[in-house]
Amino acid sequence: MDHLDSTSRVWLKPGFAGSSAGEGREPRMPVDRLGRALRDVRISVTDRCNFRCRYCMPREVFGADHPFLDRAELLSFEEITRLARIIARLGGRKIRLTGGEPLLRRDLERLVEMLAGVEGIEDIAMTTNASLLAAKARPLREAGLSRVTVSLDSLDPATFAAVSDTQVPLARVLEGITAAHGAGLAPIKINTVVKRGLNDGNDVLDLAAFGREHSHTVRFIEYMDVGTTNGWHLDDVVPARDIVARIGEVWPIEPVDPNYPGEVAERYRYLDGAGEVGVIASVTQPFCSTCTRTRLSAQGELFTCLFASRGHDLRARLRDGGTDDELERAIRGIWESRSDRYSELRTAETAELPKVEMSYIGG
Ligand code: GTP
Ligand code: 5AD
Ligand code: SF4
Ligand code: SF4
Repeated sequence: MDHLDSTSRVWLKPGFAGSSAGEGREPRMPVDRLGRALRDVRISVTDRCNFRCRYCMPREVFGADHPFLDRAELLSFEEITRLARIIARLGGRKIRLTGGEPLLRRDLERLVEMLAGVEGIEDIAMTTNASLLAAKARPLREAGLSRVTVSLDSLDPATFAAVSDTQVPLARVLEGITAAHGAGLAPIKINTVVKRGLNDGNDVLDLAAFGREHSHTVRFIEYMDVGTTNGWHLDDVVPARDIVARIGEVWPIEPVDPNYPGEVAERYRYLDGAGEVGVIASVTQPFCSTCTRTRLSAQGELFTCLFASRGHDLRARLRDGGTDDELERAIRGIWESRSDRYSELRTAETAELPKVEMSYIGG
């Protein structure tokens, strides 16, 4: 479920690049200027969220008068599915639904069902804060969702409330996780952003213990300088190697090979057989050289990097009567011009550059 088949193991060496499509051969798949294929598409279905995580949507910026997108500005499910079909023709195999909080989008299961019918798509996952998941887990599973990744930064109710800045009780998130497990949305991954001084104390071992107990894979993420509103500073980043060392002192672990080339998380197995844990070291060990991800914002802009300052407007082309072939050519051109490697080039100065907000294109 979590890995791709052997045909997908050519992600960074698409043998057809540069050759013309001949009889019985796969049409030429685009590669970017650094030789990376297009494999994943992360689709934001709303820019709204019922949480105000300090590192993502600080309330001072995303307050009551924040100009969120109007409904008419959002891509419809039909428009999203059409773009997904075109991206699948260009090599896309994995879809991740994100937000904001994707479950705030009404009837999301209908979109999942439509995407599950797209030829070439092998995996549909969703990143969610799980606050609305309990009622939705089963319908989503039945519609074709493969698995969920839950954002959860602490198991201590007070720290949870401080980090997420929400009235939603922690218990509701835990119910969501239990429901997802019951519905077979597996493997369940828990994403924890670790910020120094905020949740780098007992939270780390508590969450690791929770993952061990329930067989969920917890991944600790280095706090990143996404967007421009979170006041990021390098001193706030807890290096992934420190997290690995702390966990390993309590429960011995050993590294495991990636599930697929370019996996963002480094995986570790507990030697006592209690599953695995991971870290995402996007600041201290960037993984741009294997980045096959593109991101579609809720209003239909295609971004080729999480740290891009601007996207490419596909909605205008869709709504101006662009044909599938025209859209395919446009997306191919965008991918082939791409040379993003922000995390490899990060400096204190680049952290100050204007960048799209995370809540706008998902994680
Ligand atoms: P699967 O392996 O398919 O389960 O997903 P994943 O490992 O890609 O994980 P997920 O989509 O949950 O991403 C986890 C986190 O890693 C995100 O929330 C981001 O913080 C970070 N991340 C994911 N993709 C990128 C990327 O392209 N660049 C950077 N810098 N960080 C990323
Ligand atoms: N640094 C690292 N990860 C982040 N996320 C959001 N903001 C940040 C950040 N500044 C991740 C969280 C969330 C997902 C949507 O994106 O894990 O779960
Ligand atoms: Fe919402 Fe996720 Fe951002 Fe938190 S990290 S504010 S849950 S979109
Ligand atoms: Fe990909 Fe940009 Fe992240 Fe590098 S920083 S891995 S290019 S999204």
